[in-house]
Amino acid sequence: MSFEYTEITDPLYVDNKEQTGEDDYIMVRAKECGDVPISIPNWQPAAHCYTTRFHRHEKELLEMEVFPDDVWVASYPKSGTTWCQEMVWLICNDLNFEAARAESLRTRFPFVDVSLIHDAQMNSFERVRNTARPRFIKTHLPVSMLPKQYWTVKPKTVYVKRNPKSVAVSYYHHSRGIFYRGTIDTFVRSFIREHQFYSPYHAHVIEYHELRDCSNILHLAYEDMKRDLPAVVRKVCQFFGKSYSEPQLAELCEHLSFRSMRENKACNYEDQSNVPREAGERFMRKGELASWKQELTSEQIKMLDQWTVANTPNIEHRKLFE
Ligand code: A3P
Repeated sequence: MSFEYTEITDPLYVDNKEQTGEDDYIMVRAKECGDVPISIPNWQPAAHCYTTRFHRHEKELLEMEVFPDDVWVASYPKSGTTWCQEMVWLICNDLNFEAARAESLRTRFPFVDVSLIHDAQMNSFERVRNTARPRFIKTHLPVSMLPKQYWTVKPKTVYVKRNPKSVAVSYYHHSRGIFYRGTIDTFVRSFIREHQFYSPYHAHVIEYHELRDCSNILHLAYEDMKRDLPAVVRKVCQFFGKSYSEPQLAELCEHLSFRSMRENKACNYEDQSNVPREAGERFMRKGELASWKQELTSEQIKMLDQWTVANTPNIEHRKLFE
């Protein structure tokens, strides 16, 4: 596998980047992905949006050591990753609530690829290398960019997806809390033009979906977690071969409720003192099923819906985004 880099020439990005705070984005495409057991005939991986930092770490990414007892949580950003991580970590760690509260999720469950987009305090690949096994690893990498060893070692992985309109709104607020200075309208347009980190969004979701025959990957949806968390928890327990009593599962669901996670310092990311958060932008923001209905204009909703239709000529794929 190797990577091909393409500059972004889209005027929406180029003309606005100083004002929005987006400085050095680049599209990166993985080549020679023959190891990926994807069921899309003649699959050509898409180019995904990163920053030029990607160059510095491409060797570490390609050569990352993967272990059979690793546990991965993968997603497109803002799809409920943190929620899923906390659920998976507890299920795999005998529901040790005390340990979960004592140490930040960032430490318990490091984000392996963050160095590809931001200057992290510590190189994120190094951080994962230094993590004791069994390791819990968060990633937003698309299928085509998972490290080579992933496909031979096949660690257990949970992929979570979320409705594109919810992702668009959540991603805007998240970016605003860190660096973004554009309007929601500019953000949504740029998201649709696939110029936000890890975009294109639809390809990310569809490609993981097309790995559904891989028994090491469990597919979840944010919306299912919202509608029936106990059912999702049971599915995850089964996937990891864990069994808990009804009162224990009830305690887990209470711990995972939005209200409880919002106040939980170990996973609400409010200890990120080096990141200037704009007033009012909390990581645990709304946690709702469809707050986009109030937050997007009818024109933005129409644009996002048309974008989904254009990216899903296959009707089966379109159902993933309902
Ligand atoms: P909102 O911005 O819509 O509130 P990620 O972890 O992938 O970055 O996703 C963050 C989104 O998941 C945010 O969505 C956040 O509020 C939501 N979230 C986190 N924990 C949650 C929980 N326990 N219940 C519901 N939503 C949760």
